[in-house]
Amino acid sequence: MRKTIAITKGDGIGPEVIDEGLKILKLISNYTDNEFIFKEAPAGGAIWKEKGESLPKKSFETIKSSDALLFGAIGLPGLPQGVAEFAIFKIRQDLDLYVNLRPIKLYDALRDRCPLKEEFIGNGINITFVRENTEGLYKNIGYLKDDEAQNIMPYTRKGCERIIKYAFDYATNNNYSKITSVDKANLLKTSQLWRNIFHEIAQDYPLLKIEDIYIDAFCQWLIRTPYMYEIVVTENMFGDIISDEGAFLIGSLGMASSGNIHPGKVSMYEPIHGSAPDIAGKGIANPIGTILSVKLMMQESFDQTTIGNEIEKSVEDALLEGRTVDIKHPNLKILSTKEMGDLISEKLKILLKK
Ligand code: IPM
Ligand code: MG
Repeated sequence: MRKTIAITKGDGIGPEVIDEGLKILKLISNYTDNEFIFKEAPAGGAIWKEKGESLPKKSFETIKSSDALLFGAIGLPGLPQGVAEFAIFKIRQDLDLYVNLRPIKLYDALRDRCPLKEEFIGNGINITFVRENTEGLYKNIGYLKDDEAQNIMPYTRKGCERIIKYAFDYATNNNYSKITSVDKANLLKTSQLWRNIFHEIAQDYPLLKIEDIYIDAFCQWLIRTPYMYEIVVTENMFGDIISDEGAFLIGSLGMASSGNIHPGKVSMYEPIHGSAPDIAGKGIANPIGTILSVKLMMQESFDQTTIGNEIEKSVEDALLEGRTVDIKHPNLKILSTKEMGDLISEKLKILLKK
């Protein structure tokens, strides 16, 4: 299978973590019958400084004509508010990437890095957030004028239906038993529409347990009984917030991966951390969020479930031997970004050769 992958390295630690993601992709290209062609698509703060655009037209054309996009992180200190982020919004909006898939899994090897006490971890944390990614406050409709500002939160039936249906299908196809919808239906009209549609769609999936919960309560339960949740579907802004809360539970933001997806079309995969300019260039960033984003790309865009699982297994095996500083363990070697990527590659090579 031949696929073109656009690569946006971005700013700060972006290029460092992307290099490790590329290492994994090249390994897959070398050891399986997948062939990947890489095309750079610069975006973010550095290119904005050079060209006055954070997503140059040429980059966007490259992305649109590729099969998938691997995206590092963008943002530099001192840029005007929102300039770098514009690139992410434009890609999500213009490619209609309505699913933001954010799995949060606490690996056994990292239980010691979870900020929760053992009793709250229970039998483990394995939650997949399915965040609506194109509507609501992120439509960015509003104004700021003197002493007044406003944003509106538009939702449509089509927008709610497609993401909720995706979540139910994802749960079914991946053998989950429960799906939780997070909203604020005691206040917001948009949530009332959302909740109605959630229950309508649930009728078609009688085997799944369903649950509704208000966003404020969910934020508490997520740190009290995280083991209770499997698939969590929610609107855009709530999803932004709870996925960061969730990512903190798995040991480090550096571990968390994500996919911005439109099933069957070009989709974008990125670690959920930012560009972290304070640690850029030091070779200490954790590349695992990027490597697990490659896993998501394999599974969600290229239908390569086995390879995706092998990437994850390699990460878990590597974590028993050495780790980057954000997830360090007193008995294990501290690894640089590159060493962490090399160790995972070594493990993966063995699995791919089998
Ligand atoms: C995320 C980020 C973005 C968002 C920012 C960078 C615009 O926080 O992907 O969660 O708010 O969606
Ligand atoms: Mg966010």
